[in-house]
Amino acid sequence: MGNILVTGGAGYIGSHIVEQLLVMKKKVIVVDNLSTGYRKLLHKKAKFFLCDIKNLKKLNKIFIKNKISSVIHLAACLSVGESQKKPKKYYLNNVLGTKNIVQCCKKNKVKNLIFSSTCAVYKDKLKLVNENSKVQPKSIYGKTKFSGEKLIQTTFKNKINYAILRYFNVAGASKSKKIGQISRGDQLFKNLSIASLKKNPKINIYGNDYRTKDKTCIRDYIHVSDIAKIHILVLNKINKDKKSITLNCGYGRGISVLEAIKEFQKQSKKRFNIYIKKKRKGDMEQIVANISKIKKFINWKPKKNSLNLIVKSCINWERKLNYTK
Ligand SMILES: NC(=O)c1ccc[n+]([C@@H]2O[C@H](COP(=O)([O-])OP(=O)(O)OC[C@H]3O[C@@H](n4cnc5c(N)ncnc54)[C@H](O)[C@@H]3O)[C@@H](O)[C@H]2O)c1
Repeated sequence: MGNILVTGGAGYIGSHIVEQLLVMKKKVIVVDNLSTGYRKLLHKKAKFFLCDIKNLKKLNKIFIKNKISSVIHLAACLSVGESQKKPKKYYLNNVLGTKNIVQCCKKNKVKNLIFSSTCAVYKDKLKLVNENSKVQPKSIYGKTKFSGEKLIQTTFKNKINYAILRYFNVAGASKSKKIGQISRGDQLFKNLSIASLKKNPKINIYGNDYRTKDKTCIRDYIHVSDIAKIHILVLNKINKDKKSITLNCGYGRGISVLEAIKEFQKQSKKRFNIYIKKKRKGDMEQIVANISKIKKFINWKPKKNSLNLIVKSCINWERKLNYTK
């Protein structure tokens, strides 16, 4: 399949994909500006370029020099809350950045591209969504990701194979215990992992009057190892079959904020102090993936589909992070 470029390869999900690609003896090139990524997540066997994807000239040189034949494009800003406050930053990074990647792919005859999109592109309150469900992003973040999708679809058409992967919520750490989530965004599982190590854990719930079973938001959490493996399987498949596709990536199971808190309390054997805050603008009420399409496309069977396992993996990683600080 030739050389594979991973943008955002020093980030949480990117570093897991890089690790799995290297296990399969692929040649991996990483481009990252380290804005939310970390050198310590970078695999030693990957060739690293400190580069911002907004820098088209530098990016193009990397494509030419490294004879890139496939791209896995993850580099982006991804905080829903921040996107509402800093829309321009999100437009420049996620839309113009993706435009640059698309241009480099076209210029340098790249064969395949995988794009990290998100469930945040869907209309809110649909509950269970398939890939044909209505797209109507509530947040600026979701909007910028949907613009990225459209750029890829209109530019590549039948010329470059692409897969748009709409991730639901990603959590957990690698089996090797070497890589996991470091940066503190506003993700629930990260916040709960940090809190679970404190003497008196505290956690904020943003809104408790949603129209859900326990009145808190519902999300579909997928283990990072499963999401990383999906990239390898999908890349092989689109390369072999010369196909392009959009796929939901989740487990098809909704977990509420309160259910997640309960599982963290159980595993850490601590009682969390819960603070109810105002709803955040841009947050969706509930969203769960219909995963029939991905199951069929790559004959996919999730390996880590258990809340207990994901929470265990999150807490273990946080302990290790604390220990090595
Ligand atoms: N984490 C989730 O639950 C989730 C859910 C849906 C979609 N996604 C998507 O997955 C991708 C990866 O997310 P993550 O959770 O690993 O976050 P992350 O912040 O750990 O990774 C993003 C990486 O991209 C790099 N980056 C950002 N802007 C860049 C730029 N302009 N130039 C070069 N590098 C840049 C960062 O330094 C970082 O290493 C993102 O595209 C995100 O939108 C994540």
